[in-house]
Amino acid sequence: MKHQDMINEQRSLWVFGYGSLVWRPDFKFKRSKVGYIQGYKRRFWHGDTFHRGDIDMPGRVVTLVEDDDACTWGVAYEVTGSQIEESLKYLNVRESECGGYITKWVEFISREDSHTPILALTYIATASNPIYQGPASPEEIAAQIAVCKGKTGHNIEYLLRLAQFMKRYCPEVEDDHLFSIEAATLALVPYLLVSKQMM
Ligand code: SIN
Repeated sequence: MKHQDMINEQRSLWVFGYGSLVWRPDFKFKRSKVGYIQGYKRRFWHGDTFHRGDIDMPGRVVTLVEDDDACTWGVAYEVTGSQIEESLKYLNVRESECGGYITKWVEFISREDSHTPILALTYIATASNPIYQGPASPEEIAAQIAVCKGKTGHNIEYLLRLAQFMKRYCPEVEDDHLFSIEAATLALVPYLLVSKQMM
């Protein structure tokens, strides 16, 4: 192996995911860890006109909102060497160009080693983004999620997969925001089925 290739192979970048990246990273990585970042809460406050909605009916997807008392659980992925450029290119299209997210550095704490924080890149959407939706009640958010779909899939799938990840990998975490929206959305499913049958 050439000297430059060896240096490149030693480079390492961590990417923290807290939305769809927890169940569908879709980029090459060396290893992953479940854990959390402190000082942010996860909220279904960002709009999505590409992956889970469209211009007429924007979906609701998660972003991080600063809150000193909160923490958000997810997955950090370590990308190394030549994978870094490739993964960043892919994520830039998926998260920034199509999703409206910007990048931010955060300190990730893995469940297995809480004494060694890891600097990780994450993607967040801010209130200054034109497709940002902002706060709403669980019922209002559920009503929007229940009827929206985009190029990547239905908004309900996005919500349920995130809830499933939390229940499976972080069962000790009480995520009231996520689970109250999940419950409100599931309560709407019978009505959605009936209205589909009548169409
Ligand atoms: C995203 O990664 O933000 C969107 C992808 C998806 O909705 O599955």
